[in-house]
Amino acid sequence: MATKSAVSDAAERAMRSTLLTLSHRHALGTLATRVPITRPMVRRFVAGETLDEVLPAIGRLGEQGMHTTVDVLGESVTHETDARAASARYLAVLDALAAGGHDRNVSCKPSQMGLAISPALARENIGAIVARAVETGAFVRIDMEAHATTDATLALWQDVRPTGLEPPVDPADGPDVGIVIQAALRRSDRDVDAIIEAGGRVRLCKGAYKEPSEVAYPEKAEVDEAYGRLMIRLLRNSRYPAIATHDVRLIKRAVQVAKAEGISRSSFEFQMLYGVRRDIQEQLVGAGWRVRVYVPFGGQWYPYFMRRLAERPANVSFLLRNMWRERGRG
Ligand code: FDA
Repeated sequence: MATKSAVSDAAERAMRSTLLTLSHRHALGTLATRVPITRPMVRRFVAGETLDEVLPAIGRLGEQGMHTTVDVLGESVTHETDARAASARYLAVLDALAAGGHDRNVSCKPSQMGLAISPALARENIGAIVARAVETGAFVRIDMEAHATTDATLALWQDVRPTGLEPPVDPADGPDVGIVIQAALRRSDRDVDAIIEAGGRVRLCKGAYKEPSEVAYPEKAEVDEAYGRLMIRLLRNSRYPAIATHDVRLIKRAVQVAKAEGISRSSFEFQMLYGVRRDIQEQLVGAGWRVRVYVPFGGQWYPYFMRRLAERPANVSFLLRNMWRERGRG
């Protein structure tokens, strides 16, 4: 007979898989963004709908000693005009960050820049962002999406990396372009080696997409194991890696390795998502480690929000409780 924990693990996996499938349903997304009852929960993960709303949130994080990277929500764009408009929004963000004296650091998605329409369009759109980043001294991170886009995203990163610039005084600063590696993918050991060889800056995450077992580890324990292995390789050998996880066990391991091997606190950073494990974010900053918070904003929050729900089933019951309460009021 299956044990209770095996049953709940299976239920959790099924819930995660359903939520990730629903995250691609555009019609549901359009509906969800028009229904106000999900708003309080969404606001936990999304800093605002407009640039005017997000800048004070960034300022508050800065006052708490956190670094930030700003994400303009949007993905899976199918029209060229939308991709160009998304690129233009990033230019406005970079200008506003520079003008406000904020951390100049943004993260963007290839599919938002038009990768599915054509790699050339995505290159042009991200190229424009990188050109403005060079002007304003900003860092651009290209997020990684589902495995079918990994090769194209790595190629995009190679194409838009600025060359011939002086290295910044603080390695956290721009202008530069970084990439993301997902520990869940079986190919990531190879990719990490190639990026280290190319002198690139990596953000290591576990991977937020639903992937087939031919390309990704199906078991969480395997993903965690791969994360630990890649994390240590990056800490030892790469230029200013970003350890992006809320997994306390892995964070403690990174701290332990850094202390034991004399890896300086200014040669890497932890990264976490806005609204997730704020307690650990504060503890790390209090202990003198660098933390960067990924701050998303904008109206197109649905797929991002669904991935956050999928990561922690307890979020779903919290959302349902909220919706029930609101329904009672209405
Ligand atoms: P894990 O899922 O094991 O969670 C560890 C603990 O963290 C949980 O037990 C819980 O306490 C807490 N936690 C995690 N997620 C939570 C949530 N949503 N709500 C509440 N608590 C939560 N992915 C990707 O595919 N491409 C990308 O480009 C990026 N970029 C990125 C940037 C940054 C800064 C971060 C932190 C993460 C990403 N990700 C990502 C997402 C990443 O792949 C992964 O899905 C999430 O970080 C969750 O995995 P953890 O490493 O936190 O571990």
